[in-house]
Amino acid sequence: MKGSLLSPAVIQKVLDTIQKTYRCGYQLAKQPKREKVLIDYSSPNIAKPFHAGHLRSTLIGNFVAKINSTVGHEVVRINYLGDWGLQFGLLGAGFKRYGSETQLADNPIKHLFDVYVEANKMADKDPVIEREAREFIQSMEQGDSNSLNLWQRFRQYSIEDYIKTYKRLGIEFDEYSGESQYWNKTPQLLEELTTKGLLQTTQKGTQIVDLSDMYTGHSSYATLARSDGTSLYLTRDITAAIDRYDHHKFDRMYYVVDKSQVNHFKQLVGVLRKMGYSWANRIHHIQFGRVTGMKTRRGEVVFLADILDEARTRMLHNMQVTDTTKQLDDPDLTAEQLGISAVILQDFARRLSKDYKFDWDRLLQSQGNTGIFLQYTHARLYSLEQQAGFPLPSSVESIDTSHLGEPEAVDLVAHIAQLDSIVLKAYQEMEPHVIVKYLLQLGHLVSSAHKKLRVKDSPIEIAQARLILFNSARLTLAHGMDILGMKPVNQM
Ligand code: ARG
Repeated sequence: MKGSLLSPAVIQKVLDTIQKTYRCGYQLAKQPKREKVLIDYSSPNIAKPFHAGHLRSTLIGNFVAKINSTVGHEVVRINYLGDWGLQFGLLGAGFKRYGSETQLADNPIKHLFDVYVEANKMADKDPVIEREAREFIQSMEQGDSNSLNLWQRFRQYSIEDYIKTYKRLGIEFDEYSGESQYWNKTPQLLEELTTKGLLQTTQKGTQIVDLSDMYTGHSSYATLARSDGTSLYLTRDITAAIDRYDHHKFDRMYYVVDKSQVNHFKQLVGVLRKMGYSWANRIHHIQFGRVTGMKTRRGEVVFLADILDEARTRMLHNMQVTDTTKQLDDPDLTAEQLGISAVILQDFARRLSKDYKFDWDRLLQSQGNTGIFLQYTHARLYSLEQQAGFPLPSSVESIDTSHLGEPEAVDLVAHIAQLDSIVLKAYQEMEPHVIVKYLLQLGHLVSSAHKKLRVKDSPIEIAQARLILFNSARLTLAHGMDILGMKPVNQM
């Protein structure tokens, strides 16, 4: 839509729609048929580092959840923890030697990680630890209540710790599940596969499903049991998928996991198809590229909270050295929200499948295409409303849109008018960069309009029309930022 072609009547319509929909809660004018959508994201491993892939999964999964609920779908957010397997044996054995109940209660994620690292180191030197680790796993698998209790507490404490950190990002999950829920259901799966004539035993004694009529290369044989009969990551994931379908009868399910697991998810879908589950076609793997160079001042990132702390500290420092920074009610919180927005924008700046290099200096710049620029635009619009000297007109009908004839005003309206189609495009492509690009353009249009169209000291009728325009721009910006997972700030 070319801005200069908009009549006052069209401008009126656009602004009226924005004002009305936001005041009553945003909804797309034309919504797709309502579906039930499951999203498996974040999904870290207990006692192991939270790496860049987990950060991306968390941010992207949150976007996938938000965009799906924005277009009207019912969304179920699932965090599928890596809470089973050999590492738990080491952790259990290690905890008996190096664990501390107080530290577990105070700082569970960090303490379990430290114990695991220590146990791992010692296991290299002392074979007894390896044996204890194996014994711990066996005791869990045999239902020993001491071991299971200990493991249950590791898990519960870690989840509580995670919930706190996710909250800083504005992220919540509907379900915390994990591999531990499925390891003992895998024998049933193997039985079903045998009955359906799909399972073969190799010379090495592993059990596999032949997918070579579907895939070539690494995906063509799916291993589902080790020679000792124990299950694998894939086996547990297939069992979990079947369980999720039984429970939720989903219309779609997304796994938001980095592209290194592409074979894993191809095999997951392949095995389910072979088993005759036609709903396997409803499964999508949202694969994303690798991030390099994600470090904090203390070194390689191991915890999610470290990334958020680092973003906040660096932002706080930047705010202290710039003299334009306002007196803020809660500088820490503002710095945190700005820092997180900056990290998100950097992550969403290009197609998800592309790799990128993490760069603190660049992502925190206040000018250029950054999250800080979007936040700055929002805060500036907010302050403009506060300082107008009169309240926001109650409706668009009460203003005269023929006062919005300047090219800067018309271009801004034309851009705002595209919000719905942009949201739909981002949804169809499942790509947040569509919204990022739109919001950055919006920011630049706001900046031009802000320079030309004074609100204060203009005749009241003109000022009112402009205020409605700027307020509509702010609502549009805030809505887009929310879909990306950013919390707009009013001051900075
Ligand atoms: N815990 C896994 C990892 O860190 C990711 C799990 C993703 N979800 C799934 N259902 N496989 O690699």
